[in-house]
Amino acid sequence: MTEISEIAPELFRLSTYIPKMDLQFNQFLARDEEPLLFHTGLKKLFPAVHEAVGRLMNPSQLRWIGFSHFEADECGALDEWQRLAPNATALCSQVAKLVSVDDVAARPAKGLLDGEVLVTGQHRFRFLQTPHVPHAWDAGLLFEESEGTLLCSDLFHQAGSLEPITESDVVGRARQVLIDYQEGPFDHYLPYTKHTEKTLERLGKLKPRTLAIMHGSAFAGDGERALKDLARMLRDVLYET
Ligand SMILES: [Fe+2]
Ligand SMILES: [Fe+2]
Repeated sequence: MTEISEIAPELFRLSTYIPKMDLQFNQFLARDEEPLLFHTGLKKLFPAVHEAVGRLMNPSQLRWIGFSHFEADECGALDEWQRLAPNATALCSQVAKLVSVDDVAARPAKGLLDGEVLVTGQHRFRFLQTPHVPHAWDAGLLFEESEGTLLCSDLFHQAGSLEPITESDVVGRARQVLIDYQEGPFDHYLPYTKHTEKTLERLGKLKPRTLAIMHGSAFAGDGERALKDLARMLRDVLYET
């Protein structure tokens, strides 16, 4: 039930579609000397994600469990993973570590400083502190520098059962989701703050070639352009209306 696609060399998208929510929940596995899983997925999805990781590597060898912010689809299965993988350490912002993760995790998290780099073997992850982008004050993102892949959590959130990777307009799809959410309990899903635009501009300057998106298709193409379009769209939908 969980689909696996290689979206960059040795970087895999694990995708589980939940029909009731019309939403994909994606995790990203960097298969490496020190394997890194970005997002655990919901606790209830653990059996499916665990099985999918097992198709790619021995799950007990997982070394890093990265995520953007403290929320169930980002790190809800952290405990399950840490029981199974004795060296698996949470990887998150200092704020997430100090405020939430060290209180619930089996062992202390590695809290990353803005700009800090973690080399896992062939992959090189740079941490960007991005408060309230996509949301939550503890938010941060990882940029895989060797292949130019931005692990961008809830940014570019798209609904539906979608193709693993696309070169088409993910911003248009993300716009539709935000408009639909305005009608229900998920209104206020993303904030728009005075820092939003410059945070997205900073991410764009990394010139990502692939966007690893938590909900919906990954994007291949001009990531800087996509992030500029996203900034304009968020301003339009969240701030000016
Ligand atoms: Fe989130
Ligand atoms: Fe999410």
